Amino acid sequence: MKSIFLLASLAACALAQRLHIAEPTTGQVVGAGQYFTAELHMDNTLSSMSQKSVTIVATACYDVCDSPDQWGPGTVLYNGSFAPQYNASAPQKGLYQDFRVQLPEGWPAGESVLAVAHQFTVGASEIPVFDYTTVHFNVTDPENPGN
Ligand SMILES: *[C@@H]1O[C@H](CO)[C@@H](O)[C@H](O)[C@H]1NC(C)=O
Ligand SMILES: *[C@@H]1O[C@H](CO)[C@@H](O)[C@H](O)[C@H]1NC(C)=O
Ligand SMILES: *[C@@H]1O[C@H](CO)[C@@H](O)[C@H](O)[C@H]1NC(C)=O
Repeated sequence: MKSIFLLASLAACALAQRLHIAEPTTGQVVGAGQYFTAELHMDNTLSSMSQKSVTIVATACYDVCDSPDQWGPGTVLYNGSFAPQYNASAPQKGLYQDFRVQLPEGWPAGESVLAVAHQFTVGASEIPVFDYTTVHFNVTDPENPGN
């Protein structure tokens, strides 16, 4: 019983500690081959929480954007450490980190998904936890922006 309660409270605090994708925003237009910023926010981090890593992945989802189980494999744009910081010039943002990533050349125009997988630990015993967040954005062909 006690351990169920502990797990439930850990789950509740992990939920409040989820990562959020602030950029790109839903529907934001990115050109194939262009650099864009992926801005990842954390709510107030508990002192017992230790950031580990994020993997930022883009997937062209064609006409199955509403069916994640039909998405093909994504392309990894960043895979490495995550160390969100407080920025004194932008205090309203809280803890965040900007990643400058490039959408590969020739990326298909239309809707794509940016997915962020996040691994971290909570508690003195460093229980491993994971969250997964997505945002849908739009890709244009820079040579044919009407597309
Ligand atoms: C993004 O693409 C969707 C689906 O094609 C479309 O409905 C929407 O208007 C587009 N949004 C923008 C900002 O271009
Ligand atoms: C991400 O980085 C970790 C640690 O370096 C590595 O083990 C893993 O294979 C990488 N994954 C991808 C998809 O690149
Ligand atoms: C902090 O925020 C300012 C204003 O938005 C920005 O110009 C600066 O690059 C940010 N610093 C870091 C380290 O992200």
